[in-house]
Amino acid sequence: MIYFITGVTGTVVPVIVEDLMRKDADPHFYFAIRKDTRGIGIKSRFESVVTSLDLDQASKQKLSERSKLVEIDVEKEKLGIDPEIYAELVSNTEKILHGAADVRFDQPYDEIKISNVIFSHKIYELFDKIKNHRKENSQTDATLYYISTGYAYGIYNKAIPEDFPDFKPGKPDNTYAQTKAEAKIFILDKINRLNDRIVLFEPTIIGGSARTGRTKTYNLHYVVLMLGYLGKMPFFTAADNQQDIVPVDWVADVISDIMAKDEFHQGVLRLASGPDAPTVGDVHDAGYEYFTANDPVPGHLIPEISFVPRWFFYFMINVQKTFNQAMYKITGKKKYRKMVVGVRLLEGYFPYITRYKVFENSKSTQLLEKYTDCPKAPILQNIKDKNGNLVKKGYIDKILADTLETGWGGIVDFTRVAAQVAANKSSR
Ligand SMILES: NC(=O)c1ccc[n+]([C@@H]2O[C@H](COP(=O)([O-])OP(=O)(O)OC[C@H]3O[C@@H](n4cnc5c(N)ncnc54)[C@H](OP(=O)(O)O)[C@@H]3O)[C@@H](O)[C@H]2O)c1
Repeated sequence: MIYFITGVTGTVVPVIVEDLMRKDADPHFYFAIRKDTRGIGIKSRFESVVTSLDLDQASKQKLSERSKLVEIDVEKEKLGIDPEIYAELVSNTEKILHGAADVRFDQPYDEIKISNVIFSHKIYELFDKIKNHRKENSQTDATLYYISTGYAYGIYNKAIPEDFPDFKPGKPDNTYAQTKAEAKIFILDKINRLNDRIVLFEPTIIGGSARTGRTKTYNLHYVVLMLGYLGKMPFFTAADNQQDIVPVDWVADVISDIMAKDEFHQGVLRLASGPDAPTVGDVHDAGYEYFTANDPVPGHLIPEISFVPRWFFYFMINVQKTFNQAMYKITGKKKYRKMVVGVRLLEGYFPYITRYKVFENSKSTQLLEKYTDCPKAPILQNIKDKNGNLVKKGYIDKILADTLETGWGGIVDFTRVAAQVAANKSSR
């Protein structure tokens, strides 16, 4: 199969590529890449991705030999692709996987729209040309696979429905949700009006691998766990709220199964834990227990977190922000500015953690049973049996082990934590 793939320098797509290398007997790839912000070229960026993959040396070699890099610039016509290569893509591509997006929650609408909406329009334009070319030449139909997000539904006070072919999003939580919703409306219209072969995937929150605990991106719940470990989150809220987290290896397994098996060609597949999703309280309890039992810094005390009502939590956050803003104005000290930026980043995460977000997934589970070998997401949390005993059922310990082994991917420096512990001791 010949694939055109976007987003290979991200978190999720490389894992899908690993799986396609295992599942497709004869894969060939075109990868759409841009230079990075430091000017590192596409060849070097791709080589770093290949080196990081969980594949043996022979498979990495095979992948490099079967890959052609396509430099893109989303803001230019036809993605800025060299016309000869564009024509080659139209002639050769059988399947497109559009996994690229700007996943930040704090970007201005006009900027994030380019990566999340305009990019999708231009990918569809390419798909449309491929589709017509293949029809005219009596070749097998092309398929477009697009990674959307469950959070495109925005604010919902009830369970978020599986409403394909409809889509009625609520008010967006942020510009990411807003632009992903706009892209979904655009793509759904192509299915509904033109009967195009397009599959949309709707993962919820993608977390570390259930197999290894590893992740490339330590955001959202990882940040909250980190602040808890560092004692910078004395209060939290919404202990009963579900946080629908699915592991990256399961998401990749499903998407690569759908692509490689080549039997499901139209519709929406929500990739969610649904009723099996852990609560904020589950994640907190497991984190507190694991971090206190396995803390790499001797003598470091992890304070307990108090769960408070939402209004009080938001009030405290506002007090923090206002205080630090005022202190920055008065003193000009950078540490206050840093605190304000940190609080703003957290505020971007809150809707995903503290707001009611429950995802229906029964229709998708049935489809996954039929079309993949991996219908249900592995469970994150451990559960209580009927006698109240904790049964080790989830993979959360692997996730927590990874945070301590890597220092949240290098964000936490344990020698600094140890120095802080020593300084506190000597000042007592
Ligand atoms: N992570 C989650 O929890 C989650 C949950 C649900 C759905 N999703 C969806 O899953 C997909 C993959 O997410 P991810 O977590 O892997 O994201 P990620 O780690 O942030 O990677 C994003 C990828 O998109 C590329 N990209 C973004 N804007 C681009 C542009 N203007 N031009 C060219 N490339 C661009 C990035 O390239 P550069 O390296 O050049 O920036 C990178 O390869 C996205 O569609 C996202 O909406 C993610």
